[in-house]
Amino acid sequence: MSPAIPAPPPALYLKQARNSPSSQECMSIYDKWAATYNDEVGDSAQEYVAPVLVARAAIKYSEANGPANTIILDAGCGTGLVGQALSIARPKAIDGLDLSVPMLEIARDTGVYRDLDQADLNKPINKPDGTYDTVVCVGTFTLGHVGPNPALRELVRVTKTHGVVVATILKEIWISGGFKDEVAKLQEEGVVRATEELIDYVKGHGDKAVLLTLEKLPSA
Ligand SMILES: C[S@@+](CC[C@H](N)C(=O)[O-])C[C@H]1O[C@@H](n2cnc3c(N)ncnc32)[C@H](O)[C@@H]1O
Repeated sequence: MSPAIPAPPPALYLKQARNSPSSQECMSIYDKWAATYNDEVGDSAQEYVAPVLVARAAIKYSEANGPANTIILDAGCGTGLVGQALSIARPKAIDGLDLSVPMLEIARDTGVYRDLDQADLNKPINKPDGTYDTVVCVGTFTLGHVGPNPALRELVRVTKTHGVVVATILKEIWISGGFKDEVAKLQEEGVVRATEELIDYVKGHGDKAVLLTLEKLPSA
């Protein structure tokens, strides 16, 4: 009998996911990683601070509206770390989208999401225009995952006028991956007002990300 091939150590999953040549390949990694993802990224050596930083920024924007009236979409919700951080502000509802069903199952166990659906963020999102007050997307605009087009425009489309999209984009692909250009295009078209800030992302790895905020402007 041939020996079973051991699963890769969890630290390798992120590296493999970032090297994925296709969404299908990326999913085969997240589907295996789901069960140990929270332990791995919650490891003190990793210091994955992005979920809390983005949740804080999103909650700050929701204050004008009153968090209790705020409906949030967590795009690329994974196991629900961002939803859990957002739930502290007691928003009206948090919905989640992700392509990996095993990741969505763990998110469901958190009990903080209203609806959780499988969706490929590299394709149009199956939601009406202006559904959400706030859209967050953390750790999903990274190498081998989701690109800027059509995702950024789609996240803005499902956001209400004057609502915000708050997203992280891995610093090394902000320009090379076309995110900066896509944001410039959305601004030139008068669709959004954008702000960008460089933040720590996975502190333990020295990874930095652009924290992008897109406020949706009224259509001309
Ligand atoms: C690094 S995890 C981040 C998860 C969560 N937002 C967090 O911060 O813990 C990246 C997530 O992106 C999802 N993902 C990758 N490609 C995707 C795609 N094309 N459409 C939707 N989700 C995708 C993965 O399944 C995974 O849950």
